[in-house]
Formats: sequence, C-alpha cells, structure tokens
Amino acid sequence: MSNPSNGQIANVLNETRLFPPSETFAKQAVIGSLRSYEELYKESIEDIEGFWAKQAREHLHWFEPFHTTLEWKNPLAKWFIGGKTNVSYNCLDAHVLAGNGDRIAFHWEGEPGDRRTITYAEMLNDVCRFANALKQLGIEKGDRVSIYMPMVPELAVAMLACARIGAIHSVIFGGFSAEAISDRNNDAQAKLLITADGGWRRGKALSLKDTADEALAKSPTVEKCIVLKRIDNAPNMTPGRDVWWHDLVANASEDCPATSMDSEDSLFILYTSGSTGKPKGIRHTTAGYNLYAKRTFEWVFDHREGDVFWCTADCGWITGHSYIVYGPMSAGATQVMYEGAPNWPQEDRFWEIIERYRVTILYTAPTAIRTFIKWGDHHVDKHDLSSLRLLGSVGEGINPEAWMWYYEKIGGGRCPIVDTWWQTETGGIMMSPLPGAIACKPGSCTRPLPGIVPRVLGHSLADVEANHGGMLCIEKPWPGMLRGIWGDDERYQQQYWSLVPGMYLTGDNARRDDDGYYWIMGRIDDVINVSGHRLSTIEVESALVSHPAVAEAAAVGRPDDIKGQAITVFVTLKNHEPTDAMREMLKKHVRKEIGALAVPDDVRFTSSLPKTRSGKIMRRLLRDIAAGKEGTGDTSTLEDYTVLVRLRNDDES
Ligand code: PRX
Repeated sequence: MSNPSNGQIANVLNETRLFPPSETFAKQAVIGSLRSYEELYKESIEDIEGFWAKQAREHLHWFEPFHTTLEWKNPLAKWFIGGKTNVSYNCLDAHVLAGNGDRIAFHWEGEPGDRRTITYAEMLNDVCRFANALKQLGIEKGDRVSIYMPMVPELAVAMLACARIGAIHSVIFGGFSAEAISDRNNDAQAKLLITADGGWRRGKALSLKDTADEALAKSPTVEKCIVLKRIDNAPNMTPGRDVWWHDLVANASEDCPATSMDSEDSLFILYTSGSTGKPKGIRHTTAGYNLYAKRTFEWVFDHREGDVFWCTADCGWITGHSYIVYGPMSAGATQVMYEGAPNWPQEDRFWEIIERYRVTILYTAPTAIRTFIKWGDHHVDKHDLSSLRLLGSVGEGINPEAWMWYYEKIGGGRCPIVDTWWQTETGGIMMSPLPGAIACKPGSCTRPLPGIVPRVLGHSLADVEANHGGMLCIEKPWPGMLRGIWGDDERYQQQYWSLVPGMYLTGDNARRDDDGYYWIMGRIDDVINVSGHRLSTIEVESALVSHPAVAEAAAVGRPDDIKGQAITVFVTLKNHEPTDAMREMLKKHVRKEIGALAVPDDVRFTSSLPKTRSGKIMRRLLRDIAAGKEGTGDTSTLEDYTVLVRLRNDDES
C-alpha cells in the first residue's frame, strides 16, 4: 500500500498463481500467443508513429486523410493532423453502409422489466433525428451540451448526436447532486442540458428533473433543457426553456449527414476528481480517442462477430464512454445495456440478464464482484452462465480472493479475466492481459497494450528495480490521451507533466515483477477510490466545511471489504453538540453537495484535528485511526487526538 509521507512503498501482495488461456481460447483469439503479443508490442514501440498511422488508416473512416501522424510539443499532443472524420459516422454509418444495419446494437433492459432491441440502422435513424433537433434548438459545432440521464438508449443517442454535429458533450452521472451539476454546467459554460423526467433505481422512480431544475436555477449559461419521458411523473416544465424529447424529434428529419470534424476537434469533456477540490474537465478529442477506444476494445475483449458484450458501467463515467458507446459501437458490437440495480427485484438480476441474452463477455467492477460474493452463490447457481467466454474488471485493483471467485463461480474456470488498468485521462485501457496471449496473475493488470510505454520511477526519478514500488508514469504519447483540462492549461501542465519532465504522471503507484507484469499499488495523491470512482478528499472536506456547524474537517479513505475504500471524516464543530443527529445532518449535507457516492461512511467528531507543527493535517495518522489501527473505536463521543499528536509530532513535522 502507498504511503506518501515517507516515499516507501511496501509490497504486501505476493501472488504467484498463473492462469494461462486455454488452448481453445487461444486458438480462436485475435492475438493468440505470447509471441504474437510480443511481436506486435515491439513493432508498436519501435515506431510509435508508423504503428498508429497504420492503425488509423485501417480502422477509421476518413473524409480527408491526415498528413502528419503526431505533433508532440510536450505536454501538447496532436494526432492525425489534417485528417477529417466523424465519430458518430464510425459508430453508425460505417456499419449500415457495410450492410450490417440489421445487426443488434443494444439489447436494452429497464429496471422494471421493460425491454427493447435496437439495431444499428435504428440507432442511426434516432441519432440523425435527434441531431437535427439539436440544430433546431440552435446548437452548433463547439457548443457544450450537458447530459444528465438514466441508463437508457437515448443517453447513447444524445452522445452520438452531439458527436454527429460537433457539439461537445459533458455527461454528468445520474447520481450527482444539483450542486455538482451546476458546477459542471458553469465550468463548461454549457448551452443546453439534456435530461429525463426520471429513472428507475431499486424499485423507485428517481425524479431527475427536480434535481436538474435545482441545478438550472444556478446555471446561467444553459438556455434550453430537453426532457426525455421515462417515468411519466409529470415534471414541472418551464415554458420557453424546457422541451420534451418526443415533441422535438416528432417532426425532425432523419437526414443528417455527419459533420466533417478535424481530428483534434473536441469530442467531449468528462469531469473527474483530482487532488484539489474542484473537479477537472478532462478533454478528449476526435480521431485519436476514437481509434484508441476502438482498437483497445478489439484487442482486450478479443471481440468477434457473434459476441454479446455487457459492460455494466454507467455512461456517466469514462468506462461507459469508451466501452459502451465509442469503442464497442465503432467495432459494430452487439451489447446489453441495463438501467437499474443488480439486486432488483432479486440479487440474481445480473445472472438472469446474462442467461437471457447469452452474454459472452462481461465487464464489471471489483466492488460489484465483492458484493455478489456477499450475496451468496445460490443466486448464481440458479442461472446458466455457459455463454460467457471472457470476463473483465475495471476501476480499482481486484483482490485475489475476488478474482478467484469471479474466475471459478462466474467464469466456470474457463474464462480468462482481463484486469484492465486505465483512467479517465487515458481515454482507454493502458494495461491488461490480452486474453489469448498473456497468462493472468490474480491482482495484476499484467502488461502494457501496444504503443504504451510504462515506467516505474523512484523519488530520484530513476527507474526502480523489479519488485520495488514507485510512481507509475507513461513515457510516450498515445492517441487516446487527454488533450487538456477544460479551461485550465496550467493545471494540466502542473498536474500531469511537471513532476517528471517529459512523462505523463498517472498519480498511481505500481511495481513491475520479474516477469514484466505490473501491479497497481494505490494512489500517490489525496484521491480515494470508492466503488471504483474517484473522489478527492478535499472535495468531501469542502462540502463539510460549507455546513455552518463545521469548523474544520479532514476526509480519508479506509479499507472496505465491499467498496475497496470507504470514507471516514474527522470533524471539528463550532459550538455544536456532537450528536448522532448532527452526524446524520452532515451526511445529508454531503449528499446534497456532491451526491450519494460521496456520503461519508463514518463521521468522527474531534475537539481538534491532529496537525504538524507547520499546520498540515496529519493524514497518515488519520488514515491509521480510520482503519482501526489506533485509537478507540467509539465514534459517538467527542474524540481528542492531541495526545497522539504530541506522541508522534516529531516524526511528522
Ligand atoms: O487508481 C487507479 C484506479 O482508478 C483510477 C482511475 O479512475 P477513473 O479515472 O475514475 O477511471 C476508472 C475507470 C477506468 C486509476 O488511477 N484503477 C482503475 N483501474 C484499475 C485501477 N487500479 C487498479 N487496477 C485497475 N484495473
């Protein structure tokens, strides 16, 4: 685990089991042997530009060819300069024109049990009509459009329609609060918000439009709001601002040629947490991102015709962008999309869905896998999962016990597991087993994908030896890399490119073992990973301090069996009693400020926060306390850490 204050990283995991792909799997795989992987990898890094140029020519449709593969003025990269393409064309028109319009794009299932099957031709039609509707509302190339929707096919339609006309989308996860939405609207200066009256979650109709209305009251740049009818709860519609989706598309033409976009035109912004309080708008562009999402999907998921792919992520996160919409759809994949919770109406919903649609590839998160283990094997045993041939994991490290359960119980011992390491910033998967070529080790994301050159550096910025932990950096640019932080060039430079000159700093610690396998060892900054989603401790602290009763707050992550990390906050109150009611009030406050995923698991009141002599909060100490390594477990009373501080002040200041 990482320990940022002294630079030492202890390696606590010693996993030696090796799971090579079966002969049957390897024989049919796109990349079917270690040798093929190694040859491809070597070719890719010996001539990075030549490699990607060839990939781009073969795997994207170009309205006009590019003349220069890469311009790299550290930290600014431009890929496929001069080229013109359109991401929605590559995801839709390309397949319809090739005669595959009847292929199913989505088997969609709503939480209450409603189902729809949508072909690529139908999807193209819907996207064109909605794109024309956007134009009717005055949306033009370069305008920012926020999308705040449940997991319904129209969410993908909205994203692709923006891409079709060159509007830049910013998808905001449906679980975020009004504050989080208005912050994002304002940072991106969004002109339009696309939302729904609501969505279903655990049997309840959530009223998204109410939250959207609250956000819009504080989003002066947003002129219009499109509302999809999903739960039929007759929401408040503001005349002149709000329009129903169905009214807009009713008369819209289905003829909407894809706009010719420059390779480096922005495709989307996606907000993620960094080590400071303000979420950063990660900016991705057109051709490089599209190529990277498509090729990594094909390599890692060994995609072939006949596969039914199910990524259980929400489109509000990068995983949904790259491995529901842009990667799989560019590859013409058939997918499952599910709206709701895994335990509705019963804890076997996922297994029922896999059986119904004969899913062949399942891509989910370790936090979900740990939850399934807790719910019990009997839910799995009720269903036939024999259609599965490959499993994937994303968002955080998967512990070997969960890996083994996933492998045996879900995969029946026959499916390789691709443990995919990547980030919002990287646009697509950076390290993962190629399932027909690289033997898996439980808990390791194994080896880099073609074109990716990882380095593990110590504090002196020299490469560390095998089996030693250090900062994970990426040496060379790659097409899917972020192009910046929206409106903040300085933060982009400072955050990713200043500590190690010339290299991309991932913010993760890692080690490489004797076989060249990589093991991710947690973050080097104050970012906590809750259920595979990044949150900055400072964001949670700012939310707490904005409550009038709070004088000071510190948030830390602590290990949690299900979520990976849980949030513990230490709070000093201003002349208020530390009661359970206050604890609940503060939790509610964080929910309102950020959203349910940021609600602290433990709120501990303290008369003062432990600080170094220079006034810095001693997070290491708080992390230990939160993890139960020190102090008393009673959290209902007022705690006082001054004694501990006095004891430890010397080695911390
Ligand atoms: O710390 C790593 C962890 O999640 C971070 C990226 O979070 P985000 O941008 O929200 O994207 C999540 C989905 C790609 C990383 O810096 N992480 C992601 N995948 C893994 C992981 N940690 C260990 N193993 C992984 N497979």
